Amino acid sequence: MTEPDGTDLIPAPRRLVRNGSGRGRLDEGTRLVAGPGTEGVARWLRATVGAATGYALTAGGGESVCRLVLSIEPGLPSEGYRVVTGGADHLIQGGSAAGVFWGAQTFRQLLGPDAHRRAPLRPGQDRDLPEVTVEDAPRFAWRGLMLDVARHFLPKDQVLRYLDLMAAHKLNVLHFHLTDDQGWRIEIERYPRLTEVGSWRARTKFGHRASPLWEEKPHGGHYTRDDLREIVAYAAERHITVVPEIDIPGHSQAAIAAYPELGNTDVVDTASLTVWDTWGINENVLAPTDHTLRFYEGVLEEVLELFPSTFVHIGGDECVKDQWKRSATAQARIREFGLTDEEGLQSWFVRHFDNWLTARGRRLIGWDEILQGGLAPGAAVSSWRGYAGGVTAARAGHDVVMCPEQHVYLDHRQHDGPDEPVPIGYVRTLEDVFRFEPVPPELTPEEARHVLGTQANVWTEVMEDPARVDYQAFPRLAAFAEVAWSRLPAPAERDFADFERRMTSHYRRLDALGVGYRPPGGPRPWQRRPGVLGRPIEGVPPNV
Ligand code: ACM
Repeated sequence: MTEPDGTDLIPAPRRLVRNGSGRGRLDEGTRLVAGPGTEGVARWLRATVGAATGYALTAGGGESVCRLVLSIEPGLPSEGYRVVTGGADHLIQGGSAAGVFWGAQTFRQLLGPDAHRRAPLRPGQDRDLPEVTVEDAPRFAWRGLMLDVARHFLPKDQVLRYLDLMAAHKLNVLHFHLTDDQGWRIEIERYPRLTEVGSWRARTKFGHRASPLWEEKPHGGHYTRDDLREIVAYAAERHITVVPEIDIPGHSQAAIAAYPELGNTDVVDTASLTVWDTWGINENVLAPTDHTLRFYEGVLEEVLELFPSTFVHIGGDECVKDQWKRSATAQARIREFGLTDEEGLQSWFVRHFDNWLTARGRRLIGWDEILQGGLAPGAAVSSWRGYAGGVTAARAGHDVVMCPEQHVYLDHRQHDGPDEPVPIGYVRTLEDVFRFEPVPPELTPEEARHVLGTQANVWTEVMEDPARVDYQAFPRLAAFAEVAWSRLPAPAERDFADFERRMTSHYRRLDALGVGYRPPGGPRPWQRRPGVLGRPIEGVPPNV
């Protein structure tokens, strides 16, 4: 087998042609010429490729033997790019700054795995790269990763690291799952108890829901407003949009523990509730009162200040209605609004915030349960319980992000072997993810236009630390990135052997980036979980 020459790109580009059989060069004299609008990409190149090579990549270029020239070319698709290497100049051109940035990612891959390190291995070493032209553009506008930082808190540095890893895979939406029963992670100035009380739990279930193990120490943490400003700015520099999720009306026990009046006080002693310390679907949901609406409007006002994204995710999933059935207050609201049942209360919550966000120039997105009861025209749906919600939404004219749990829930096991750590959910191998198709065949081309894109979801119940997140996310996120970016044939016709061949280069990039992925042969010894955590639990449904 020949040594990879840097053209084993992931995700696969639309077109790659060789301009010659020689090698282009990058060396100490290489100058970086940043055209208007590409200054941010130049900064990124100096901080990454500059650090990995030890070259200053200084501006200008009159006398230099070799230049790297960045430019925006309006004729290219908005996020599309063209990279030309090996001539007098290396060129990275994009239809927008984002396109130039994705081109810069390709340029780094062409330079080889060591261009992904943070310092040069050998000072003064020249770099070469294949002489090629790459022309490329993404299939989908929404190429997302959902990170659940509520079940296990992910320190800020790790979030920034994940933004770098997303950028390296040309992913451009971080769906940031900031609140849940087990923790509230975003500082809200006017409601300090949300983080003082709601961001800590006394102990944690270790492993899946049926595990008998607990970690008997407090777990928690939150991001300050400045942390979040930094995360949003860091993402923006990488052309990634951060979509915040504040989950209502279910998945709210942490908020109720902080402010008991948010719960159904006429049926539960909410003052004695604590931040939840185990996994599953929780019956402590928000009370359908005007007070709750005003409270969450206050939360969202601060969310809008911090997050400029058009979309704001309001959760809406898995809201158990038992307390509303028993609550006189909830039943009175059902009568007052002329609703038929408790499902109508859920729609009432969603419609309220749909209107509220729309009035502020934003758009609501929620899990597919929000379809029950009708949505305002601008609202969008994350289709997670399979494709059906997304199909219904697209047919009704709503935009959709496809993330069916059967395919792209990366907490689910990636092999059925006995060594797989905490083997929950469906078996989804690297090949399964590679063959995932976000647009189901039953949609007409007109309906399919509502599929904005797709995202992989990383729920962290069984990922107690960043190493476990890496293990579950990688290498499958590389396959997912190819699905989201590249124009692949129908699932059965996709060339998995070619993908695996390119992955041999990509594993070396991931090594250089310091990613603790699952190796193709199975977990490394320290990635295994012996005993009860190493076995699927009989009778536990796929969802933890
Ligand atoms: C979900 O997995 N409950 C959206």
